[in-house]
Amino acid sequence: MENIIEVKNLKKIYKRRKRHDNFLKGMFERQYEEFKAVNDISFTIEKGEAVGYVGPNGSGKSTTIKMLSGILQPTSGAVYVNGIAPLEHRLENNKNIGVVFGNKSQLWWDVPVKDSFLMLKKLYNIPDVQFNNNLEEFVNVLNLKELLNVPERQLSLGQRVRSNITAAFLHDPSIVYLDEPTIGLDTESKDSIRAFIKRLNDIKKVTFVITSHDYQDIETLCKRIILINHGKIILDSPIENVREEFNRYKTISIKCEGNNEVNCAILEETNFKIVGVEADHIQIEYDTESYDPVELLWLLRKKLSIKDVVISDRSIEAIIKDIVHNQ
Ligand SMILES: Nc1ncnc2c1ncn2[C@@H]1O[C@H](COP(=O)(O)OP(=O)(O)O)[C@@H](O)[C@H]1O
Ligand SMILES: [Mg+2]
Repeated sequence: MENIIEVKNLKKIYKRRKRHDNFLKGMFERQYEEFKAVNDISFTIEKGEAVGYVGPNGSGKSTTIKMLSGILQPTSGAVYVNGIAPLEHRLENNKNIGVVFGNKSQLWWDVPVKDSFLMLKKLYNIPDVQFNNNLEEFVNVLNLKELLNVPERQLSLGQRVRSNITAAFLHDPSIVYLDEPTIGLDTESKDSIRAFIKRLNDIKKVTFVITSHDYQDIETLCKRIILINHGKIILDSPIENVREEFNRYKTISIKCEGNNEVNCAILEETNFKIVGVEADHIQIEYDTESYDPVELLWLLRKKLSIKDVVISDRSIEAIIKDIVHNQ
């Protein structure tokens, strides 16, 4: 298969103003310290892949996306996207890619959304047929009809994200970077955005790199994750393998008679770890090497009056948190 993205020994070092203990000294002597936001990472991505780029806050995800998309100059190392260096060939690169930052609008603030799309049509030289077909399809799938004549600044967050996503795809890019595309959105908007992305990945074989705090985005859309922490890649693997390798712990969700607070208090006296409490469910985690499920249920039944039980694998989110924590 063809590698559409190649990243080799990529680094980004930011220079930050150093804080002085002595205020006056700080005013006259500016000292800088170096901060390695992305610290020597390498990976390749094949055409048509959808990769989840995950990691804690401040781990270097957005910095990487900015270097991949040609917004930010790497300190050292190499990036090739579709065979070219994004920054050196900015215009050519821009034709191949789309970028969405969930927390930032890339459209013109004061003009109706439709006019922004028309400006992009001009900028990218999108032929009429292609533009009209894409717009019609995206307006239907993302339900944009009623907001085309509204200026960007008057849109709700969900509407703004949907208009930005449309904008990123109008020129049929072969690669799209999505940085926290669903941040702050309601479930309905999240679902329609996920369905839209999935469809373009399936049908048009668009390659995606997606960062998100919402692991449902990652699990719905990606088959592979790259985990970054403190600027270094600590895991690069198919999600299925991560699940299998770390499936020692499972989650058991129980629904009990009686007051949940009281039930939690009873559980807290045992060795089980409570990992979630919802209206009428309590989730605990257990070690499959210490208990078999039948034994476990017997133990729980002695303490609680159980009405229903679901046992499931741990979430990818919980697994990833552990990997980062134990690093
Ligand atoms: N322009 C900048 N100047 C200095 N430091 C920065 C700049 N942008 C980001 N950083 C720092 O680099 C680190 C990585 O940031 P970022 O790539 O945005 O992380 P993430 O997207 O994973 O949350 C953070 O510690 C952040 O504070
Ligand atoms: Mg970020």
